[in-house]
Amino acid sequence: MDTRILDGVALSRKLRAEWQGRASALAQAGHPPGLAVLIVGQDPASAVYVRNKIKACADFGVRSEQLELPEQTTEAELLRHIDRLNRDPAVHGILVQLPLPKHIATEKIIHAIDPAKDVDGFHPLNVGLLAAGQPRFVPCTPAGIMELLDAAQINPWGQHAVVVGASNIVGKPVGLLLLQRGATVTFCNSKTRDLAAHTRQADILVVATGRPKLVNADMVKEGAVVVDVGINRLPDGSLVGDVDYQSMLGKASYVTPVPGGVGPMTITMLMINTVRAAEAAYARAHKAVNVL
Ligand code: GUN
Repeated sequence: MDTRILDGVALSRKLRAEWQGRASALAQAGHPPGLAVLIVGQDPASAVYVRNKIKACADFGVRSEQLELPEQTTEAELLRHIDRLNRDPAVHGILVQLPLPKHIATEKIIHAIDPAKDVDGFHPLNVGLLAAGQPRFVPCTPAGIMELLDAAQINPWGQHAVVVGASNIVGKPVGLLLLQRGATVTFCNSKTRDLAAHTRQADILVVATGRPKLVNADMVKEGAVVVDVGINRLPDGSLVGDVDYQSMLGKASYVTPVPGGVGPMTITMLMINTVRAAEAAYARAHKAVNVL
């Protein structure tokens, strides 16, 4: 079996060319897209993710505003920042990097973000719209996975998709998207008995557990499409996914590398969601002018 690579770097480059044009059209109309990124505390992995998001903004022509708040920031202080950003017409997307320190209730913060600026797609309104089959803002990693499948002309219709990991950020939304595209979906979680019996059934296997090399070639069917969402740093400093990549070569029909597969797509979809949010705000503002 010839295994093909689902290349998130190449696809990101292609999408960027298109969406940079849309961002610059907004800027020329005096309405540049803007993203606010908030980080609370010093988690080193989160700091790297935020740095990459800010860098992507510069690449895409999105204006960015980064708020680095100290670990001891209170919930009320963070809510005040969100309230200010909700009311700022130059800010079209608000992203609060997760995880938050334990003394802050994450749901309260997510609920406070204006759903029209919720470029992460985590607000319950956007989660509900996705579940109802009317997606507005789709979480970035699941949206990136669907773009990777589409670009390779992998059609989920009638396929058995198995999702390992049922988080709100990745597992649940990617399962819903696959279901809406006609797949039969199995969700597995850390309590699943005989995980391999499920993963071996998968035509499309999505693994998002945060457990290094959890899935090996014995656990996948010949010819399966394998999507690895994991990014794990081993004690020797190397980065590995939740899938044993080398063992997939010759067994899977398609596989995402780590790094260079899903990771870059997540950031690309964040930029696309931000430009879409800015386009929608622009359309609303013009409708208001026309009404007047
Ligand atoms: N932490 C890990 N992934 C994400 C993400 O997609 N968005 C936010 N806000 N925080 C994260």
